[in-house]
Amino acid sequence: MKRAVLFLITVYASVPVILYLFPWILGHIIFAHFLRFPYFLDLGRPEDVLNHTCNFYLNTEDGVSVGVWHTLPASQWEDAPGKGPEWYRETLGDGRPVFIYLHGNGATRAMNHRVELVKILSAAGYHVLSLDYRGFGDSTGEPSEAGMTSDTLYLYHWVKKQSRGGPVCLWGHSLGTGVATNTAVKVQEQGSVVDALILEAPFTTIGEVVANHPVTKMYMFLPGFESLLWSILEKNNIVFANDKNLKTLTSPLLVLHSKDDDIVPYNMGLKLYQISLQTKKEYNTDVPVEMISYSANLGFSHNSIYLDPNLSNVIGKFLQNLRQ
Ligand SMILES: *[C@@H]1O[C@H](CO)[C@@H](O)[C@H](O)[C@H]1NC(C)=O
Ligand SMILES: *[C@@H]1O[C@H](CO)[C@@H](O)[C@H](O)[C@H]1NC(C)=O
Repeated sequence: MKRAVLFLITVYASVPVILYLFPWILGHIIFAHFLRFPYFLDLGRPEDVLNHTCNFYLNTEDGVSVGVWHTLPASQWEDAPGKGPEWYRETLGDGRPVFIYLHGNGATRAMNHRVELVKILSAAGYHVLSLDYRGFGDSTGEPSEAGMTSDTLYLYHWVKKQSRGGPVCLWGHSLGTGVATNTAVKVQEQGSVVDALILEAPFTTIGEVVANHPVTKMYMFLPGFESLLWSILEKNNIVFANDKNLKTLTSPLLVLHSKDDDIVPYNMGLKLYQISLQTKKEYNTDVPVEMISYSANLGFSHNSIYLDPNLSNVIGKFLQNLRQ
């Protein structure tokens, strides 16, 4: 008994020491890209989980190849069987909205709740491009905030070139919301504006999610632990500052957040929504800025907003407002 207690105390006490000595570990925990589930699925064969989908790779940078799934809108389903990547690429010019789906940490573009959302968007009549950032899934390289953002920016421009005027929207979930707003800031710096941003379960900054985690909370009373955490994030160049980004972004915005989210607290989504309303005022624009809140009793939590039976109507209405 005494030994077990001593062991537990040692494990507990060694965590801050290990983080201090090996700061990259925190980056690995945040990205969790080494968790490649579903493990027994060949990402080169999307048809095992998604119909009307083509797998391809883009070289987003010298030596970095990222895997992407393109799922067609319902209007193109019938024509799809037997078609190759070139045909799929051509369809992006059909004027229908294109969603670039930016997934959260851990696992791959084949993870169940990601695939379910893609199915809904596809059935609602949209193209979806779902990518695994560098270091995730079958993509090469190592993840970093700057690298994941630059992969997405590359894909965004690639899609824009094919899409001939149809709206290209960024849909970020969880960690992907940070990638989405980073990318939108880059696009704005280049002199244009992303057609629409949809942020599902977004956070203010990733540091605040880490600080809010139950495991972290067990250490927060230790003097210096919190500042250790922030300094490690800084050393790793991991910020994902949605709050700061939204102070300058003038894209149409839709925030989706469930009140029972146990990973990213609902208040963070609400705060971002308020920041965007403020930005809209300051820039004197009339772009749509909306938030849908899901009550806790629906049980959607962090990963299951796709279960909202009305989701495709919500998205449809939001896109309709863009055109006005
Ligand atoms: C693909 O479509 C067929 C025919 O509608 C259906 O039976 C099958 O379950 C679908 N596959 C997947 C992975 O959704
Ligand atoms: C579904 O979404 C639409 C568009 O946002 C809204 O007008 C309608 O009231 C919603 N219906 C339900 C049952 O929530």
